[in-house]
Amino acid sequence: MTGAPRLLLAPMEGLLDHHLRDVLTRVGGLDRCVSEFIRVTDRLVPDHVFLRRVPELRRGSRTASGVPVRPQLLGSDPACLADNAAALAALGAEGVDLNFGCPARTVNRHRGGAVLLDEPELLRAIVASVRAAVPRDVPVSAKMRLGYRDESRLLDCARALADGGAQEIVVHARTQADGYRPPARWDRIARVRQAVQVPVVANGEVWTVDDARRCLAESGCAALMLGRGLVADPWLALAIRGEGAGPGAGEDLRPLLRAFWDGLAGDFAERHRPGRLKQWLNLLRRRFPAAQAAWERVRAVDDAATVERLVFGAD
Ligand SMILES: Cc1cc2nc3c(=O)[nH]c(=O)nc-3n(C[C@H](O)[C@H](O)[C@H](O)COP(=O)(O)O)c2cc1C
Repeated sequence: MTGAPRLLLAPMEGLLDHHLRDVLTRVGGLDRCVSEFIRVTDRLVPDHVFLRRVPELRRGSRTASGVPVRPQLLGSDPACLADNAAALAALGAEGVDLNFGCPARTVNRHRGGAVLLDEPELLRAIVASVRAAVPRDVPVSAKMRLGYRDESRLLDCARALADGGAQEIVVHARTQADGYRPPARWDRIARVRQAVQVPVVANGEVWTVDDARRCLAESGCAALMLGRGLVADPWLALAIRGEGAGPGAGEDLRPLLRAFWDGLAGDFAERHRPGRLKQWLNLLRRRFPAAQAAWERVRAVDDAATVERLVFGAD
């Protein structure tokens, strides 16, 4: 690797909320986060909804440790997305990211996410409309997959996003039809990079430092977006930078889990807290034997007090 790559934290609806962003950015190594998507239909999203999803907006669009957070919008109506992007900018958003990658059937049925990759002209119109609606110094970026059913429109889509005014394009190197099945085809990102002038960020299946090296080499990118790999190993970004000792070197997960668990108490009903913690443990257990043990203790437990005792009892 020549020089440290820029490292972005991926949006992950249902898991990577502001609590987990806070915990993971405290560990370090990340340059920017993208929020989980905010759905836009045919009206203005109330400010209180933006602020609930991205409370970092109250802190200059940064996490407590100072890492910028860029809100992400998902929708298909250029004018309505533009109005909502302008509202986000007025709230101090560091930038606006647009979701053209969500594979969920219900979202796609309502013309949101990856299904729009079949309509490059609409992609261009959406980005142009959003770009025109926010101040020049507020970057507009887009996140795409390789395509919806297949990759035949990959370069048309990437060029449409760049022509519309996207200042950065994140490419998750799979189609909607691929879902989350490995492999991620990093070499396809290199084609996108050659087709557009704007920075391209590589995403998909980076779980280790070695994956990061190979992804950077195959894609030719200078930036990576890390999703499940960083949630499974909060020290991954530092390790990719050659800093920190990495997991297995005695890193203690408990303070991180405790901070997340306590944070959830602030805005989650008790019955929803265990599910969130278990989702994180389910990824952490790929790397950490202690997380595996905790996950086995709580996997069948839904009661918050019992989960707390079983995970943190010895604290
Ligand atoms: C549970 C989950 C939720 C996700 N939510 C979003 C989302 O809100 N917006 C988005 O653009 N991508 C979303 N993604 C996709 C990720 O940002 C990322 O592109 C994908 O997980 C591949 O990267 P990874 O292999 O590093 O995890 C989500 C992925 C997962 C697994």
